[in-house]
Amino acid sequence: MPKVSVIGAGNVGATAVYYIAQRNIADVVMVDVVEGLPQAKAADFLHGSPSQEFTVDIVGTNDYSQIAGSDVVVHTAGIARKPGMDRMDLLKTNVSIARAAGESIRKHAPDAVVIAVANPLDVIAMALLRETGFPSARVVGMAGVLDSTRFRYFIAERLGVLPSDVSAMVLGGHGDTMVPVSRYTTVAGFPIGELLPADEIKRLSDRTRTGGGEIVNYLKTGSAYYAPAASVAKMVEAVILDQKLVAPASAYLNGEYGHRDIFLGVPVQLGRSGVERIIELELDAEEQAALDDSAEHVRAGVADLDSIADGP
Ligand code: NAI
Ligand code: 2OP
Repeated sequence: MPKVSVIGAGNVGATAVYYIAQRNIADVVMVDVVEGLPQAKAADFLHGSPSQEFTVDIVGTNDYSQIAGSDVVVHTAGIARKPGMDRMDLLKTNVSIARAAGESIRKHAPDAVVIAVANPLDVIAMALLRETGFPSARVVGMAGVLDSTRFRYFIAERLGVLPSDVSAMVLGGHGDTMVPVSRYTTVAGFPIGELLPADEIKRLSDRTRTGGGEIVNYLKTGSAYYAPAASVAKMVEAVILDQKLVAPASAYLNGEYGHRDIFLGVPVQLGRSGVERIIELELDAEEQAALDDSAEHVRAGVADLDSIADGP
C-alpha cells in the first residue's frame, strides 16, 4: 500500500487526511508537534471508517521518523493567516517550521514527492526544495488547484451551471497578484468570453483573488480549509495513481514563462514522479505582464527567505 504523510494535523492537514483516507489509495501518517492532537484525530477518523468504508491505516504521531518510506509528504504545518495579516507576515514562523520539516523529509522520506501547502506558499515551496535538496520536479506547491476551483465555482454559481463543467486557469503566485486567465477558462468547451461580459469576468476574477480572504474575514481566527484540503487530496491522488493530471500548481521554473529559480503557479502535469511536465501556454502581453508582476512579489518573498537564512 502506498504511504502518504501529512505534516500538521490542524485544519488543512487533518481535513486533507480525511479526504485522502476516503479515497482508499494510501495509508496515511499525520504528524504534529502538539501532543495528543494527531493521535486523537487519527483515532477519531478510524472510528468512522466502518461507515465511511475505507480500509487504509491512519497513524497520528509527534514523531517525524514515522514518515519513513512515504511516497508523498504534504507540508501543512504552520500558522494560518488572521484578519489584517498578509500571507507574507507568516513568513518567519512558517519558514522555520518548513526548514525543520524539510530536514526530516530528507532524512526519513528521501524518495517522496513533497506537496507544499503552508503559506506564503511559493516561498515555503522554495524553502522545502532547498532543505530537502530534492530534484525540483519532486517539490510542488498546492495553490493553483485551489484558486482555479474557486474561479470555477464562482463562474458556475453566476451561470447556474455544473461546477465540474467549468474549466479554469489561474497562474502566478498564491496571493493577491494571482492571475486568473479568462482566455483559458471554458464552460463545457465554450470560452467564458462568449458567455459573460468583460466586466462580469473581471468581477469573478477579482473575487477569486480575494477568495481566501473572504473566508478569513468570516472565520476571524483562521483561514479556509475544506476547499484547500480537497485540492491537496486531488494532487495526492494524481501522484499516487500516476494520473498525469493537468492542473495549475506552484512549480520550480527554469526559464519557462521567462522566469528562473522561482516557484510560480503554472499548468503542470502531475504523476508519480511529481511535476512531469510544465505546460507553456501562449500568453498575450497583458497576461504576461500580470504574471511578471506576480513573480516579482514572489521574488520579494524569496529575498526575505534569503535574509532569514543569512540572519544570526
Ligand atoms: P492550523 O493552525 O489549523 O494548523 C497548523 C498545524 O501545524 C497546527 O496543528 C500546529 O500544531 C502544527 N504545527 C506547527 N508547527 C509544527 C511542526 N514543527 N511540525 C508539525 N506540525 C506543526 O492551520 P491550517 O488552517 O491548517 O493552515 C496551515 C497552513 O496552510 C497555514 O500556513 C495556511 O496559511 C496555509 N494554507 C495554504 C493554502 C494554500 O492554498 N496553499 C490554503 C489554506 C491554508
Ligand atoms: C487560502 O487561499 C489561506 O492561502 C489560503 O485560503
